[in-house]
Amino acid sequence: MTQQFKSVIGGVAHHLPDNVVTNSDLEKMMETSDAWIQERTGIRERRWVDTEDKTSDLGVKAVEKLLQKVELNRNEIDLLIAGTLSPDLYFPGIGSIMQKKLNLPNVGAMDIRTQCSAFPYSLATADGLARTGVYRNIVIVGAELHSPVLDKTTRGRDVAVLFGDGAAATLVKAVPLGDNESRPTAQNTVSGVIDTLLGSDGNGAGILTIKSPGLATPGFVNHDVVEKGEYFPYMEGRTVFKHAVTRMLECSSSLLKRNNITAQDIDLLVPHQANLRINDAVADRMKIPADKVFNNIQKYGNTTAATIPLCLSEAESEGKLKKGDLVLTVAFGAGFTWGANLIRW
Ligand code: COA
Repeated sequence: MTQQFKSVIGGVAHHLPDNVVTNSDLEKMMETSDAWIQERTGIRERRWVDTEDKTSDLGVKAVEKLLQKVELNRNEIDLLIAGTLSPDLYFPGIGSIMQKKLNLPNVGAMDIRTQCSAFPYSLATADGLARTGVYRNIVIVGAELHSPVLDKTTRGRDVAVLFGDGAAATLVKAVPLGDNESRPTAQNTVSGVIDTLLGSDGNGAGILTIKSPGLATPGFVNHDVVEKGEYFPYMEGRTVFKHAVTRMLECSSSLLKRNNITAQDIDLLVPHQANLRINDAVADRMKIPADKVFNNIQKYGNTTAATIPLCLSEAESEGKLKKGDLVLTVAFGAGFTWGANLIRW
């Protein structure tokens, strides 16, 4: 019989810039207040790079920490999957740039461009490839450098206060299944990735976006774009908020249903960190108590592709995520895109 494989999470690590920017710091840059930001989003502070670090450098630092934590030799990595919406360059992607900076062998390296949903998409990709047995040690990275391209004036305050810089890396290992060994399911206690669900709706493309530069702009980038500040992120906040709650709920319940479990079977819900009120609404409607939900948006804001692995990394080191736990991750982001993963830790 052909050898069967399952994919397991081999470890998670994160890297955050040292520079802490509090809501009070933002009050000095724009018309806003600590009270408004905390009440509307839950955010108290975020990290903004004050060094020369680019997105790939943040990602590299997260991977270095991961390799040290799981004691994996870099020559054993056979695929690098990098999620980001803030790449160093228009092209090539940060995957190849990180491959060089990490001094990895000439393994495959690719970028996943699904913004805040990068983790579910990256894990779904890694899981599928690990199950073939061809790839044994896949590293997923979520890395974002938002701070240089935020409009830090009153004009951009609805977006600028939300985002933070940071990176997190996850090792996905292909593990051979023994003769009578079961795959991980929501019903057994076998560790590994159980199921993933992905979705998208391009009707939302213009609602949360950076409009320019891009090939849709005459001249790629022009004076008009610069004058209007169209190179800053644009977001219709209320619309995004409503879609986020709806899709995160829909996608979570579909994933739970097709695995024959309910939200009450989940040990830890790890939602994307865009707004604490979004996560409270999702958990509330799923009837998941607060002690089974992990949030850290209060300290880091929205680090987009890095949020979920950053939560997993912190939850594990705080003892809130233990071997054998059933974990549900769920994300929603620009595109629109969304996705969820069911994992036995
Ligand atoms: N400080 C102070 N006031 C602000 C502000 C800020 N940083 N940003 C916006 N405001 C003002 C608005 O100008 C508006 O003023 P007005 O009533 O005089 O017109 C008022 O606050 C309310 O704005 P509104 O946009 O309706 O607030 P909101 O309750 O919807 O909260 C967001 C705004 C952005 C926090 C919220 O919509 C949100 O989180 N959306 C989803 C974000 C998200 O998920 N993004 C990423 C997806 S992955």
